[in-house]
Amino acid sequence: MTETVESAGTDAAVCRRLVGRTAVITGAGSGIGLAAARRLASEGARVVCGDIDETAGKAAADAVGGTFVRVDVTDPEQVEALFKAAYDTYGSVDIAFNNAGISPPEDDSILTTGLEAWKRVQDVNLTSVYLCCKAALPYMRRQGRGSIINTASFVAIMGAATSQISYTASKGGVLAMSRELGVQFAREGIRVNALCPGPVNTPLLQELFASDPERAARRLVHIPAGRFAEADEIAAAVAFLASDDSSFINATDFLVDGGIAGAYVTPL
Ligand SMILES: NC(=O)c1ccc[n+]([C@@H]2O[C@H](COP(=O)([O-])OP(=O)(O)OC[C@H]3O[C@@H](n4cnc5c(N)ncnc54)[C@H](O)[C@@H]3O)[C@@H](O)[C@H]2O)c1
Repeated sequence: MTETVESAGTDAAVCRRLVGRTAVITGAGSGIGLAAARRLASEGARVVCGDIDETAGKAAADAVGGTFVRVDVTDPEQVEALFKAAYDTYGSVDIAFNNAGISPPEDDSILTTGLEAWKRVQDVNLTSVYLCCKAALPYMRRQGRGSIINTASFVAIMGAATSQISYTASKGGVLAMSRELGVQFAREGIRVNALCPGPVNTPLLQELFASDPERAARRLVHIPAGRFAEADEIAAAVAFLASDDSSFINATDFLVDGGIAGAYVTPL
């Protein structure tokens, strides 16, 4: 296929930056993970879809011609098995998109959030990223190549009066850990970046805001773009960070937030 300058980079169908690369994605069954599975596969990657939800994870893998591995990202042995399955099936582990995460309603203000809810969110959102990086790195070090993308959030760098205290703390941890790993392994050809999405237009968010327009308005007013992100827009950033187009981008907090973190006063 002939690529024109105009179409290159704008049409995912002709953007083939990941041919021959193997990508492991956690939380691939839904939302950002699913959109990333589609995007990375469309760019030529062989995709391993990890998810605790067997039905959704399998459907994602089928949709992208990839492999499904059921994994609870809080379990060290299951995480090891996920990355081993990628290597055994495709012969390399080039991209790790460590993305699975939760934001349960029990995690709220520090005044009401109990220790159990705190620990559960830390396990799924932060300890999981430690486990996934620990499992992916040995393959990448042997190859002398790899891109790790850990999903943090814009709340890792901004405070919200609508608190989800453990979630925010977990994403801050993802940010700091990614930075440190990016620095430690830079001379081995491995890049580690934290992806910081702004709020994404997911079914969960739509449902929540349909029932509470005031809550929606309270958030939307802070977004210069005047809207939430689409999952495909976050997936495009994942593909960029996964590819050699971002070869000098390492140890960053890569914001994809429509300008939220840069805003003081937003347009009417
Ligand atoms: N949606 C947003 O507005 C937004 C904004 C910033 C950051 N994020 C982050 O992006 C990531 C993905 O969010 P999303 O909105 O796509 O979520 P989602 O709920 O649509 O998808 C998360 C997926 O992770 C899976 N999962 C949950 N717990 C798991 C576990 N223990 N082991 C394996 N898989 C598990 C779920 O089954 C699901 O398929 C999360 O880390 C989230 O914190 C989301």
